[in-house]
Amino acid sequence: NIDNKAYKKKILLTGGAGYIGSHVAVSLLESGFDIVIADNLSNSSEESLSGIRKITGRDFTFYNIDVCDKSLLVDLFEKEELDAAIHLAGYKAVGDAVKSPLKYYRNNIASTTSLLEVMDNYGVRKIILSSSANVYGESSVVPVTEGCETGNCTNPYGRTKWVQEEMLRDVFTSDDRWNIVILRYFNPAGAHPSGLIGEMYGKSPSNIVPSLALAANGDIPYFKVLGTRYNTPDGTGIRDYIHITDLANGHVMAIKKLYSQPNVYTYNLGTGRGYSVLETIKAFEKASGREIPYKIEAARDGDIAEMYACSDKAREELGWTAKYGIEDICRSAWNWHNKIY
Ligand code: WQD
Repeated sequence: NIDNKAYKKKILLTGGAGYIGSHVAVSLLESGFDIVIADNLSNSSEESLSGIRKITGRDFTFYNIDVCDKSLLVDLFEKEELDAAIHLAGYKAVGDAVKSPLKYYRNNIASTTSLLEVMDNYGVRKIILSSSANVYGESSVVPVTEGCETGNCTNPYGRTKWVQEEMLRDVFTSDDRWNIVILRYFNPAGAHPSGLIGEMYGKSPSNIVPSLALAANGDIPYFKVLGTRYNTPDGTGIRDYIHITDLANGHVMAIKKLYSQPNVYTYNLGTGRGYSVLETIKAFEKASGREIPYKIEAARDGDIAEMYACSDKAREELGWTAKYGIEDICRSAWNWHNKIY
């Protein structure tokens, strides 16, 4: 267990008001770390900040800023004594990225260059990057390991995550004082058991679990099964759904690497278990006690058949494993849905 008394300064959480960021904030605060959140609230609200405070009983400073804006970042670094940063700020919807690639390249890349430049100027050279299984593209090998080929992404969103990773690898090559951890998320889903924080989605989310919650609750007439002719046992897409609380805890476990031998450390954060769309429907029906009507529709452009993680490296090097399964994910997602709908 890391002695967080050793860290006198604070950890900057960019995107800390978002779905993943708010859960990472809770895990950090509960582990005794002090944090600062920077978020422009473009995909989140201040409500999640009060949710974090309610859950943890702890406070933190919030800067309502765009991380792309270097002058605002400099103000923050002037005011706060920072030890490290966890970079979660960014856009993450694949369909949206295909429609508006430049918005994604600007936001996801410019936010990272700005942050790294200001960190370097202030001698803060410890960073955890939020990356994605999207960087593996249509991987030929499952379960996918960190050594699998990356970069042949199937969409602009995945490409921005890959460029962020390449940027960090280049920074380390240029200056080996940096401690860098890259965390590749599989499919984050579910919500904090308290129901006080979770993913803010509207009536037409792209991700499967919020869509199942809407269909289970009758907010939409049926769930759309996007494709049944994939080369998988039941023909539907297989993914590695990881509970958001497990994902958040992975960030706390990764901090110890920021204080070890400077290097670039890369880890998959997934459960190592894939679930098909039809299996996930069943799990959600069980967790919600509701029947979910569904219709079969055409496969979605850019979707791949199967993707799930080998997470041995995170277990061996970080001591991290996923504690929650698909039922816990669906139960927590259903609980959250009933708070917001
Ligand atoms: C999962 C499976 C769909 C919706 C996302 C994005 C991105 C990433 C997390 C960070 C697929 C099927 C879905 C529906 C369905 N974020 N599906 N009906 O596409 O694996 O990737 O993961 O990196 O948000 O890249 O997640 O939840 O959209 O789809 O049948 O209404 O569910 O075809 O097989 P995906 P998803």
